[in-house]
Amino acid sequence: MSGFETLIYEKKDSIAYVTLNRPQALNAYNIQMRNDLHEVLGAIRDDIEVRVAIFKGAGGKAFCAGADLSEFLTAPSPIVARQVRWKRDVWGLFLSIPQPLIAAVHGYVLGSGIEIALCCDIRIASEDAQFGLPEIGLGIIPAAGATQTLPRTIGRARALEMLLTNRWIDAEEACRIGLVNKVVQREKLLETAEEMAKKIASYNPVAVRNAKQAVMRGLELPLAEGLDLEKRLALEVQLMANQTK
Ligand code: COA
Repeated sequence: MSGFETLIYEKKDSIAYVTLNRPQALNAYNIQMRNDLHEVLGAIRDDIEVRVAIFKGAGGKAFCAGADLSEFLTAPSPIVARQVRWKRDVWGLFLSIPQPLIAAVHGYVLGSGIEIALCCDIRIASEDAQFGLPEIGLGIIPAAGATQTLPRTIGRARALEMLLTNRWIDAEEACRIGLVNKVVQREKLLETAEEMAKKIASYNPVAVRNAKQAVMRGLELPLAEGLDLEKRLALEVQLMANQTK
């Protein structure tokens, strides 16, 4: 698959690579990127050859500097601009992808940039990464999941501080509070993400998908129901393994 205006989509063996590719605008998320991501995410979800996907940003300065402000300011109104974005539910699609997603982030990781990273399952940052939610300063609130995904990841108080004060945090702090799994040197970023992706891709894909599903769906359930879900998913893995014997 090729020919995207704002993304590069590649597949190597069983790993998919999605590169946000508007480096001249620090990979800001615009309507075209929304459309392109929607298409790519659908392709990843439906491609059984893809066992893991890595999300990264083009250029030296940013993973993604948030929503495209030029578009935001020229749209008839922020409300209309948002309605356009919501028409295609990229964020719901993101969270429904059965394969593990790894975000490899560097430089500015702002607004939608954090939100894309939070839709991924594992986040690896380079030492130069900076994380922030500038929306409140623009008189809006995040609408691509951050008010929900951030507190579930770093806790309510820390999430509210980032959301309400627009304090940006560096990679070291992001790692300390659990926003990212790991911090590595810039030149090791892709290599580290790839090592992790290859390891995941080497395991039984049904076990991998079911483990992700058990965690993702289970987090929304009371413990007893979560344990039932785990039992069902574990059984499914076992049955599939028996069938292939
Ligand atoms: N939307 C559209 N264009 C953006 C952008 C965004 N969110 N963020 C950066 N750009 C563009 C700049 O306009 C600039 O374009 P130009 O070279 O044509 O002038 C280019 O990317 C480089 O950005 P610049 O501001 O020159 O880089 P910097 O290193 O001085 O500053 C930031 C980097 C991230 C601090 C600054 O670009 C910024 O504050 N961006 C907006 C962040 C934001 O509020 N995002 C919205 C969240 S909802």
